[in-house]
Amino acid sequence: MINAQQTWSPETYLRHGAFVSLLGEPVVQVLAPQAGERILDLGCGEGILTEKIAAAGAEVIGLDNSEAQVEGARQRGLDARVGDALEMTFENEFDAVFSNAALHWMSPLSRVFENVHRALKPGGRFVAEMGGAGNIHSIRMALYNALMARGLDPVLYDPWSYLGDSSAAKMLERAGFEVRSCSLLHRPTELPGDLGGWLETFAGSFMGALPQKFHRQVIEEVTDALRPTMFDPHNKWIADYVRLRFKVVKPE
Ligand code: BEZ
Repeated sequence: MINAQQTWSPETYLRHGAFVSLLGEPVVQVLAPQAGERILDLGCGEGILTEKIAAAGAEVIGLDNSEAQVEGARQRGLDARVGDALEMTFENEFDAVFSNAALHWMSPLSRVFENVHRALKPGGRFVAEMGGAGNIHSIRMALYNALMARGLDPVLYDPWSYLGDSSAAKMLERAGFEVRSCSLLHRPTELPGDLGGWLETFAGSFMGALPQKFHRQVIEEVTDALRPTMFDPHNKWIADYVRLRFKVVKPE
């Protein structure tokens, strides 16, 4: 990746991305946070799920590399910190690490998994959901086509790493974890607004490859290309989300 133009505005995110946290609530149930546990929420964003973990009585630290999102999380009264999972140096201090819809923005994931392993106490658990192999494939390919049509190599601007279940399980084992569960789930997902809003919120790295004056054109091109397959008869945009969910444990 040569460009990282993705920025997060809490207002835009809440308008077009709040569903990400809502759909992540079952992952908090798998985490099953307990009162008094010390838990790290990796890629906490504006802290909607961090707040739910804290409501269980856990002591939660949210980590995110977006200052704007961390500021939003702090305004909820959370202990949120600006930081990078690739660089974090926590050691043997968390009962659990949690992450929803964030790990696919991080690369190399092998290093993130090693850092999470180091951060956990022996016996600690790592529960996460992220985009998995095939996630938003049609949106991604339409963005690839738009960049290639303008003479650009889209791979250089693609910020997402999507693992399959067996490669994720192997990578987690190599980092030292025992895998309790690790599976892919196809989850067609209704977008809260139109595809243009989604692209404006999440496709900043691809848009950043192009001068601003082409952004509207690309959004229209991608939207037109996907309307026949993604815009359903009830006038809703349904995106081809695939989730990878796992629960792994650091051995005692
Ligand atoms: C996801 O949660 O899978 C996702 C969200 C935004 C952009 C790409 C993927």
